[in-house]
Amino acid sequence: MPSVVKINVLTVPVEMRQELERRFAGRAGMVESADGFEWFELLRPVAGSDRYLVYTRWRSEEDFERWTQSQGFRKGHAQAAGEAAQGHGHGHGGPAAGEAELWSFEVVQSTGPA
Ligand code: HEM
Repeated sequence: MPSVVKINVLTVPVEMRQELERRFAGRAGMVESADGFEWFELLRPVAGSDRYLVYTRWRSEEDFERWTQSQGFRKGHAQAAGEAAQGHGHGHGGPAAGEAELWSFEVVQSTGPA
């Protein structure tokens, strides 16, 4: 069975970019321990698109879905949900992203340095 790639595509207003990256810098770090988790990258747009990509790769669709329904996912989105940012005297509660869209892929080929 091929791995699956799930990319959360975030439309972020220019004035919220720093805040989004700050939230990811302080992310929970829960996803690393999720069963079937293989890879994560936060990709900042440079050319071709102005949307941030949250790239993740999973052993299977089921593993990804289990993670999205887990406490780890909820904790991993505390700032996005406005929980952690409130009452701390910094940051703003609520989403930094204006819009989120999920893209799904199957890995057909993959390689690294020879
Ligand atoms: C409305 C939908 C979503 C928004 C606005 C959003 C935004 C965010 C933000 C701002 C963070 C930084 C950490 C925090 O908020 O505390 C985060 C973490 C993360 N997001 Fe999302 N996200 C959404 C859904 C998803 C989905 C569907 C995926 C699947 C690819 C995903 C993957 C991740 C991962 C892997 C992290 C790091 C979690 C960790 O460190 O454990 N997000 N997201």
